[in-house]
Amino acid sequence: MSDRFCEDALMTVQGRLSFSPPSPHTVLPVDAPLSYSTRYGRMYCADSLAALRSLPDDSVNLVVTSPPYALHFKKEYGNANQAEYIEWILPFAQEIRRVLRPDGSFVLNVGGAWTPGAPVRSIYTYKLLVALVETVGLHLAQDFFWYNPAKMPVPAEWVTVRRIRVKDSVEFVWWLSKTEWPKASNRAVLRPYSADMMRLAARGLRSTKRPAGHVVRSSFASVDSGGSIPPNVLDDEVPSDLMRFGNNAANDPYTRRCKEAGIKIHPARFPAILPEFFIKLLTEPDDLIIDPFAGSNTTGMVAEALERRWISFELDRDYVEASKFRFDGVESPPTKKPAEAKAKNARSAATRRAGSSRGG
Ligand SMILES: C[S@@+](CC[C@H](N)C(=O)[O-])C[C@H]1O[C@@H](n2cnc3c(N)ncnc32)[C@H](O)[C@@H]1O
Repeated sequence: MSDRFCEDALMTVQGRLSFSPPSPHTVLPVDAPLSYSTRYGRMYCADSLAALRSLPDDSVNLVVTSPPYALHFKKEYGNANQAEYIEWILPFAQEIRRVLRPDGSFVLNVGGAWTPGAPVRSIYTYKLLVALVETVGLHLAQDFFWYNPAKMPVPAEWVTVRRIRVKDSVEFVWWLSKTEWPKASNRAVLRPYSADMMRLAARGLRSTKRPAGHVVRSSFASVDSGGSIPPNVLDDEVPSDLMRFGNNAANDPYTRRCKEAGIKIHPARFPAILPEFFIKLLTEPDDLIIDPFAGSNTTGMVAEALERRWISFELDRDYVEASKFRFDGVESPPTKKPAEAKAKNARSAATRRAGSSRGG
């Protein structure tokens, strides 16, 4: 298989990618079975640990991913339990660190978990972060939180039955880096100024000292830097340049096409805004992005639209097949028998209800 791509990607209004005139983009050779390719990227149905090992050192700009979480109930694709989780994930992190360029970043989305049988949170996420820094040698460039109000109020026993805990609505998103100086520009993720800020800018501001001691100068409100600097909280309400949908959205093109074709919908997708934010913050056009736990290939879809090269790995053949619906130029998977698909999607929905609306 040649390393050149001959399709052109354009975002359609429906949020699916279509292909027009050829334009070649190279990606790295990978020792794994190729499922499909686009102008900018390639999807492999493979165990990402083995596939990552085939990539050269210092070759990747950004890894953005959401692995299976250490939930105490098993998702349909299997999760390592909390005790084994760190042991399981560290070899992936070691490979990711090796393939990253010195100015590269690793953005990792993980959700928290409860201790089985008790109204007590697991601290596995904190242990994992310590291991990523102290054992693997990554740096914590910044910690982010994904606010997902659509999460289910679980565990029901503590939240809705006994009413002794509240709804867990955030997940961690850690921006880790190979060195202390990863490539980044917050100018690429500026948001529109708020109405208050615009009013202040129009009216002007007197120099003043905030109670915490920060001095706000009169020039502060009059300087237009092209937008406001975003906080480290991501939520589905943030306008996406590509499309807006929560992971529970029933009508995004991928979900709709899966339903129409009777194909199993991935039960734990992250919203496009998550990879979109970090791809813009941490990469430039033609940079290379990898998602080693790609699922429905949200990352590949966003990278394609932003004209970054991408490589995605996913172990489950059904998820790989369904992810073809994200790209117009890729041949769609064969339609399943309606009854078979209905049963599969009902099973996925039941798993989601049992856990959370996302929960990797
Ligand atoms: C939380 S999901 C990722 C969802 C994805 N972010 C999306 O938006 O669709 C994690 C995925 O990792 C896959 N996976 C688990 N172990 C893997 C491995 N060793 N190599 C590749 N994929 C793996 C699972 O099949 C699952 O689809």
